[in-house]
Amino acid sequence: MNLAQLLDLELPIIQAPMAGVQLGALAAAVSGAGGLGSLPCAMLTPEAMVKELELIRSFTAKPFNVNFFCHVPPEPDAAREAAWRRELAPYYSELGIDAEKIPGGAGRAPFSAGAADALERFRPAVVSFHFGLPSRELLARVKGWGSKVIGCATTVDEARWLEERGVDAIIAQGVEAGGHRGNFLSDDLTTQVSTLALVPQVAAAVKLPVIAAGGIADAQGVAAAMALGAAGVQVGTAYLLCAEATTSLVHRAALKSDAARHTALTNLFTGRPARGIVNRVMRERGPIHPAAPRFPLATGAMAPLRAKAEAQGSGDFSPLWSGQNASGCREIPAAELTRQLSARL
Ligand SMILES: Cc1cc2nc3c(=O)[nH]c(=O)nc-3n(C[C@H](O)[C@H](O)[C@H](O)COP(=O)(O)O)c2cc1C
Repeated sequence: MNLAQLLDLELPIIQAPMAGVQLGALAAAVSGAGGLGSLPCAMLTPEAMVKELELIRSFTAKPFNVNFFCHVPPEPDAAREAAWRRELAPYYSELGIDAEKIPGGAGRAPFSAGAADALERFRPAVVSFHFGLPSRELLARVKGWGSKVIGCATTVDEARWLEERGVDAIIAQGVEAGGHRGNFLSDDLTTQVSTLALVPQVAAAVKLPVIAAGGIADAQGVAAAMALGAAGVQVGTAYLLCAEATTSLVHRAALKSDAARHTALTNLFTGRPARGIVNRVMRERGPIHPAAPRFPLATGAMAPLRAKAEAQGSGDFSPLWSGQNASGCREIPAAELTRQLSARL
């Protein structure tokens, strides 16, 4: 069965869930166009999620995807937090921020029983998970109400792990991808490979439909991913300039500039490696810093720097998430972009 049949889609194009830069409007537009729109919930309370789900439902009766993170929240570590704030101290004084008054903050929450309670009545066609899967009980609840489940693999081992636990399709996320790496069996970044290398290896290793993600920015890229054995694609970065996305002005400006050609994996903003456009704090502290608090606790210390700099029109302290290929970003409606991406299928 191909992906369009499995998920009841007209087009095998999934708009990647992108926490922090989109809400229901983007998902509704893509689903309305025949692709699979996604609502990212990692940064939404259950109440906010419900509001967005109602918005999507009011716009389209077509299938959509609801996406969650599955990390295990770490114990706060006061010594590590203090060391990290010392590392950022020169920036606090430069921007006139009182370091004593910065609250800690989780920033991103994993899928929970509370989220499942709020989600259940919507019975979305698809639920996707990043960083592995939730507990056996929570996964059984999601499958029990009829949602198809998609997991994200960054290695062949992760793809096999997901298949063994009963997912319906697997995203193969190449290292080109924007935003957080979905790796969950190993923290070793040398295990992370390109979409071109990963997709055919995952397709050979599992029996499930494979969805290619990472660096796919136009119709040729979509066709190439399908030629490698993908049953569909998940595209994120290319949607960031669409009017329906909530991408900030500094982020939009960076994506439109030559700076977008230089991205790196960085743990400075959340504590986990994620790909973003290289900016001042990444250059000056190095994109991966051993003192950064564990995911998602690093979000707190950077937040006031980001807010102050963005108010001055600067993205020096912002996570400017982007994949390695921002050439497909278009300031066009998301429905039109979805149709353009599928033009060679
Ligand atoms: C701004 C941004 C935010 C992202 N947030 C999420 C998220 O909340 N959940 C998720 O599963 N993936 C997230 N991702 C990763 C995407 O699912 C996908 O792997 C990636 O966008 C594909 O690569 P591309 O950006 O080169 O198209 C995000 C990506 C970006 C660019």
